This record gives sequence, C-alpha cells and structure tokens, in this order.
Amino acid sequence: MLTVKYLGHACFTATDGTSSIIIDPFLSGNANSPATAEDIKVDAVFVTHGHSDHLGDAIYIAKCNDVPVVGASELTSYCKDNGCKIQPMQPGGKWNFEFGEVRMVPALHGSGLIEHGRVTYMGIACGYVVTMGERTFYHAGDTGLFGDMRLIGDLNNLELAMLPIGGQYTMGVDDAVLAAVWTHSPNVIPMHYNTFDTIRADASDFARKLDAAKINCHILQPGDEYTVP
Ligand code: NI
Ligand code: MN
Repeated sequence: MLTVKYLGHACFTATDGTSSIIIDPFLSGNANSPATAEDIKVDAVFVTHGHSDHLGDAIYIAKCNDVPVVGASELTSYCKDNGCKIQPMQPGGKWNFEFGEVRMVPALHGSGLIEHGRVTYMGIACGYVVTMGERTFYHAGDTGLFGDMRLIGDLNNLELAMLPIGGQYTMGVDDAVLAAVWTHSPNVIPMHYNTFDTIRADASDFARKLDAAKINCHILQPGDEYTVP
C-alpha cells in the first residue's frame, strides 16, 4: 500500500501505513500549503535540491522528528552544519531505508541556495525513485526534460510519477507529457505549477494530453491524497 498526500508546490508525503516520508517540504513559505511544519511526523525528509522552495522547512522538520535529511552530499553537509542528522547520496546511488529502497536519479536543474544575495553550493539537483509499501514512484524534482527519463522508466517498474509542469524553471505541459510516456508510469500527478505567477500551467490540458496517451492523470489540490491501486 502506498498513499501520497500533496502539500502544494513540489511537496508530498508518502506512507505505507507504517512509515512516512516527506519530499521538498516547502510549507511555511507557501501560502497554498495545507499543513504547517509543526504538524509533520515523518521518518525521513527528502530534498531534491537547494532552492528555497524545496529545502523549505526541511531542517526544522528533520530536527523536530529527530530523523535524517536525505539529499545530495553537499546539501546534506549544509543541513548537518545546521544540526541535522543526514543521509547523503548522489545520483545513481541507492540506499535501503527501513521503509524501503531509494535510488537518487539525475535532474536537469540548478541547486544553489540563495541567502542574502549570496549563493551557497548545494551539489547537483536530483529526483528520487522510492519503493515503499511494495509500490515504486518517481518524484522528478525540478527538471527539464532529458532523454535518460527513458532509462529511469526502463530500470524501474514505476506505478506513479510526480512531474513538474509549470514551465520557466522546469518542464512545461508538453515536455511533461513526453516525460510521462518515457517513464512508463501508468499514473501521473502534476506538480510545481500555479504556486507563483510565473509558473502558471493548465493541469486540465496536461490531463487531456495524458489521457490521449492512455496515462491516468491525478490532479491533486493541496491536502488531497492519492492511493496507488
Ligand atoms: Ni528549483
Ligand atoms: Mn522549484
């Protein structure tokens, strides 16, 4: 059993009924977030890259729950300096957590943390392929379309993919349709759109195009859950 809950922007929790994780917890900075960082109870905090709309409340949540931040080595080094437990990884690597296996995969994106006009190097951006509750999903992080999404689809029996559709910083709708096809995932949830004015996208257009490709599109509002059948 695998249930994911959309907490707005690129943030999801995932649970198998026993363990829970959160990915890219951008909550306190997001006016559309249905949850507060104080409410989050998880066993690990995954971060795809160092931009503030992904790192978000990761350090706070990891410390409150006494659980690791998982991310690229440079990003986790920053989190360790800020008092967190960490689980560093790099793209291509796998790690077995108590809840299941995670593979870090590439993403085509930047990863610097910008604070007070200064950029801190946080390693490279990534996505995650997570197996939990005997189901496997792909959270693409922020990324442009790249050909090795086919490889991610070929190497993993994906049953769900969360793909960005907002454009400007990531894939837009049409590229994300190609990504969905390439990952061979029967179920797709759009993310990283409509949070800001510059990443407006039409999720229903995305759903129509996926439907034509015989892929199920699940448009979640912040707070909505989806259980993989
Ligand atoms: Ni980003
Ligand atoms: Mn972003």
